[in-house]
Amino acid sequence: MAPTHQENSKSSRRWWVWLLLLLMAGGAIAVVGWYQLFREEPQRFDSVEAYYLYGSIGAEQEEGIPYWIWRVLPEVFPQHLPGEEGYASLGMLWEEDEATPAGFSKKTIGFPRIAINCAACHTASYRTSEDAERQIVPTGPHQTFDPQAYLTFLGNAANDPDFTAATLLPAIEAEIDLSWLDRLLYRFLIIPRTRDGLQEQAARFTWTDERPRWGPGRIDPFNPVKFHPDLLALDPAEDDTIGNSDIMPLWAMDEQQGFALHWDGLNDSLTEVVLSGAIGDGARPDSLPVDDLADLEAYLLTKRPPPYPFLDDLDAELAAEGEALFQQTCAGCHGLEGARIGTVIPQPEVGTDPHRLAMWTAEAAERYNAYAEEYPWDFNAFVKTDGYVAKPLTGIWLRAPYLHNGSVPTLEDLLQPAGQRPERFYRGYDVYHPERLGFIHDGESAERHGFLYDTTEPGNSNQGHDGAAFGTQLDDDDKAALIEYLKTL
Ligand code: HEC
Ligand code: HEC
Repeated sequence: MAPTHQENSKSSRRWWVWLLLLLMAGGAIAVVGWYQLFREEPQRFDSVEAYYLYGSIGAEQEEGIPYWIWRVLPEVFPQHLPGEEGYASLGMLWEEDEATPAGFSKKTIGFPRIAINCAACHTASYRTSEDAERQIVPTGPHQTFDPQAYLTFLGNAANDPDFTAATLLPAIEAEIDLSWLDRLLYRFLIIPRTRDGLQEQAARFTWTDERPRWGPGRIDPFNPVKFHPDLLALDPAEDDTIGNSDIMPLWAMDEQQGFALHWDGLNDSLTEVVLSGAIGDGARPDSLPVDDLADLEAYLLTKRPPPYPFLDDLDAELAAEGEALFQQTCAGCHGLEGARIGTVIPQPEVGTDPHRLAMWTAEAAERYNAYAEEYPWDFNAFVKTDGYVAKPLTGIWLRAPYLHNGSVPTLEDLLQPAGQRPERFYRGYDVYHPERLGFIHDGESAERHGFLYDTTEPGNSNQGHDGAAFGTQLDDDDKAALIEYLKTL
C-alpha cells in the first residue's frame, strides 16, 4: 500500500532531523578538528629583540615540527646526535628557562610547533676564556650551530624504525599530560605525519651528501631554495655547484642602505633579503608575517655589535697608527665613505674562492624575481653578479672566521699571504683569542669542540684577498697597528 501524503511528510521530516544532527556532529568534529590542528594562537613578546630570538617568521605551517616530538627526540635517539648534551651538541644556544634555543620559535597552530627563525643562524656567542660566562649576541653570525648536522639528525631520527607512537608517546607523556583526544591525534595523525615530513625533508637534501660539509656557522644559502620543488624548482642532477658560505652579521644594517647585500651582492633591497630569508627558512607567501618582518628589519637597522671585550688593554697610540694605515690601504673598499664600499669587487680582482659565486645563477635570479608575483611584496631585485661585495667592517672582531667561506680563522691570518694561512683548523669553539682576533681554532679544546675545516676541499679555499692592495705585504709592525685599529670597529 502506498504511503499517505501525511506519512510521507512525517518520514521526510525525520530525515531532515537526522541530516541536521549529522551535520551538527560533522560540524562539531570539524570545529574540534580545526581547533586541535589549525587554530593559531598569537605569540606575545616584550620587545622586538625577544621576537627576533623566539618569534615566528611564518615557517611553522610548512616546516614546523610538533614541539613535544621535537623536545623528546634527543632522549629517544641519542645515538643520532654527535654528543651527549642533546640539542646543545649541535651548537644551539639554549638559555635557561627558555622553551626553545635562541633562533627557534614555539607557536601553537592547533598544537605547539617549533620552527627556526633568523636568529638560528644570525646569533653569535663568545667567551673571553674557557671559564667565562657565554655571551649571546643577537644579530651576530652564529659560529657554533651546525645546521647541516641538525638536518641530518632529524632525517636519521625519522628514518629510524623506532620513530613510532609506541616509543615517542611514552616519552612525551613523561613531560606533559595529554588528553585522550590529543593522544589519539598524536598516535594516528601527528606522529606518522611528522615522520613522513621529516623523511621527505631528508630526501630533499640528498644533494648535500656529495658536497663538502658545511660545518658549524656555515650553510649553503641558496641551493636549498634553488632545488626546492615549490620554490625555484631547479634540478640538482644538473647543477653541481657548492654554495658553502659563512653566516653574516645583521647588525648596523643602516650602514648598508643601498648596498649590494649577501656575499656576492645578489640583491640590494634589505626588505627583499629579509622576506626571501624567511622563505628560505620555510615560510610561504600565505604564512609570511610581513608586518612583523618589517619591525624586524627596523630593528636590524639600529642594532649595534658589542665592543671588543678586551678594549681595556688597547694600545691607543698603536691603534691611531693603524687607523692611518687603514685609511691608506683599506678604506677605499671598506671605509664607510669608501668609493667601492657596498659594491661588488670582481672575483679575479679579490681572488677568493669562486664556488659560492658560481652557485647563484642568472636563471635562479630570474626565477626568484618571478616567484610570488601576485603578492603585494614580491621580488624584483635579484641579480647575478661577478664577484664579492666589499662590506663595512663593523664588529669585525666577532665575525671570525673570515671571508665568505669562513676559510681564515683570524684577522692576523687574513693579513698573511694566502700561502701562510692555516691549511686546516677547527671551527665552532667559542672561546675568543684576545690578540689574534678570532676564536681559538687549534689545540685540544678546539679539537674537542670544533669541526675540522680543510681548505683543500672544493669551496673551502683560503686563497685571495692577498697582495699589496689587501695589506698582506705590510711589515709586521704595520700589521700589528692595523690589527689594533680593527679591534675598535
Ligand atoms: C640557516 C641559516 C640562516 C637563517 C635561518 C637565516 N639566514 Fe640570513 N644569511 C645566512 C647566510 C649563510 C648568509 C650569507 C649568504 C650568502 O650570501 O652566501 C645570510 C645573509 C643574510 C643577509 C645579508 C647580510 C649582508 O650584510 O649582506 C641578510 C640581510 C639576512 N641574511 C637576513 C636574514 C633574515 C631576516 C632571516 C630570517 C627571516 C635570515 N637571514 C635567516 C644564513 C641564514
Ligand atoms: C679592492 C677592494 C678591497 C680592498 C682594498 C680590501 N678589501 Fe677586504 N675585502 C674585499 C672583498 C671583496 C671582500 C670579500 C671577499 C670574500 O669574502 O670572498 C673582503 C673581505 C675582507 C674581510 C673579511 C670580512 C668578513 O666578514 O669575513 C676583512 C676582515 C677585510 N676584507 C679586511 C681588509 C683590510 C684590513 C684591508 C686593508 C688592509 C682590506 N680588506 C682591503 C675587498 C677589499
